[in-house]
Amino acid sequence: MIRSALMNVMTSAAIKAGRGLKRDFGEVENLQVSIKGPGDFVTIADKKAEKTLFEELSKGRPGYGFLMEEGGEIEGSDKSHRWIIDPLDGTTNFLHGLPVFAISLALEREGQLVAAVVYNPATDETFLAEKGQGAWYNNHRMRVSARRDMAECLIGCGVPHLGKAKTHTKFKAELSAVMARAHNIRRMGAAALDLAMVASGRLDAYWERDLAAWDIAAGILLVKEAGGYVTDADGGDTMMASGSICVGNDQIHRALLSLLKTA
Ligand code: IPD
Ligand code: CA
Ligand code: CA
Repeated sequence: MIRSALMNVMTSAAIKAGRGLKRDFGEVENLQVSIKGPGDFVTIADKKAEKTLFEELSKGRPGYGFLMEEGGEIEGSDKSHRWIIDPLDGTTNFLHGLPVFAISLALEREGQLVAAVVYNPATDETFLAEKGQGAWYNNHRMRVSARRDMAECLIGCGVPHLGKAKTHTKFKAELSAVMARAHNIRRMGAAALDLAMVASGRLDAYWERDLAAWDIAAGILLVKEAGGYVTDADGGDTMMASGSICVGNDQIHRALLSLLKTA
């Protein structure tokens, strides 16, 4: 595939930050047995990755604004463009030494998502898309799955952690409704990768609530450019504001929404 100059800026920034995360991930293994555990170390790794992304993207596209999970909102002189960044999506996986985490990087132009990179440094997997140019996995074109029968489908989800106990009842009702119809469920622990898995056809659909814009911005464009459908978990288009999302091919997305509505 011939990458645009913009895609080259984004992928080289993600790969440079990913090199640091991969090195730190190797160290986390050793810290599992330390009394204090790797918590503080992971926070440092997270912030280091974000700093690298901020520096590289500021060099590549001066003046663009930023919305970053750790650094917050930074206004740019170019009011039309804003980067939306999660420097380490899948922090809990990273902390526990599970190689399921990613850098999620999206570019918004006049409020529209126009470019996306999701990069897993542990597996060296790059998922990227540009608006109107299709979606790519390690330089191969990717499409959402073609399955039409929910009973054959593998559905991704987000299990709310202990600190989100007030959402457990709703989630358990949704999980029960989906388990009654889908072949099986997967909880990967990195929303950006869940979305990349749907875009690459490995998951047939995915839903989750209570996310942040930086978790899903890049993945939304990946799924759309891979021919998938994207709504919030109630069928609306509030994803970036509400942090609620439901994605899949046209038939399975519709079927999943119907099951969620029964919960
Ligand atoms: C988290 C992951 C996880 C999702 C959480 C997010 P983080 O992002 O995307 O899959 O269930 O809601 O907060 O904290 O690892 O960047
Ligand atoms: Ca995240
Ligand atoms: Ca994060």
